[in-house]
Amino acid sequence: MYFESRIYPDIAALSEAALGDILRILKDAVAKRERFSIALAGGHTPAKLYALWAEKYKAQTPWSAVHVFFGDERFVPEDDLLSNYRMARETLLSQVSIPKENVHPMPTNFPSPEKAAEAYEVELRKYFGENTPAFDVQLLGLGVEGHTASLFPGSTALDDTQHWVDAVTVPAEPPQRLTLTPVVLNQGLNTFFLVAGANKREILKALRAEPDSEPSKFPVGRVRPARGVVWYMDEAAAG
Ligand code: 6PG
Repeated sequence: MYFESRIYPDIAALSEAALGDILRILKDAVAKRERFSIALAGGHTPAKLYALWAEKYKAQTPWSAVHVFFGDERFVPEDDLLSNYRMARETLLSQVSIPKENVHPMPTNFPSPEKAAEAYEVELRKYFGENTPAFDVQLLGLGVEGHTASLFPGSTALDDTQHWVDAVTVPAEPPQRLTLTPVVLNQGLNTFFLVAGANKREILKALRAEPDSEPSKFPVGRVRPARGVVWYMDEAAAG
């Protein structure tokens, strides 16, 4: 698998580099297919990249051709401080002229996470049709115990080959979440992991120590798209 690691002095440089690659892919996708899809990551790490996009590169982005999806979501109201959508809206989406219909949050206003997961699959089908979604870019983070999106160790979603979106209960706050499954994540055309901070050093070391010949012990290791992945790390995380 194409596994490229790039190390930067800090999260600002990491974000600038990853965003430069995103914009290059975006430009190419729009030129060829007149549209570009990206699945945003949640958590804290990507906020810097989103803010940079809004501050420095919004004018050169053809927002009418850009469709924003999410890799996972906490099952909380969209104005909750823990909402990934809220973080993306505040740092990027509310600052740029992206058409409302081009923003596809994972819905959290359904009676149950299971119904919300079903609804998001309908939303994905509207854009991708019946083919398994293949995002032009999918941004992902890494948890200290090796989770990515909301695929945590031991999650049933890891082996779900039937669904594109699962409702999961995770050992983190808040516990109820929606997540893309590996079925979708392994179709990504460009998969970028953004990892920063000394607290990620141990998990990165453990991942690097895993023999290629055996399946990974960690959920993040189940994301093995044919097109490979690129790891953008800062020095604090890379060690
Ligand atoms: C989420 C994210 C999650 C995140 C990692 C890393 O909803 O929390 O999707 O997978 O990427 O937990 O989070 P940090 O960037 O905050 O370290």
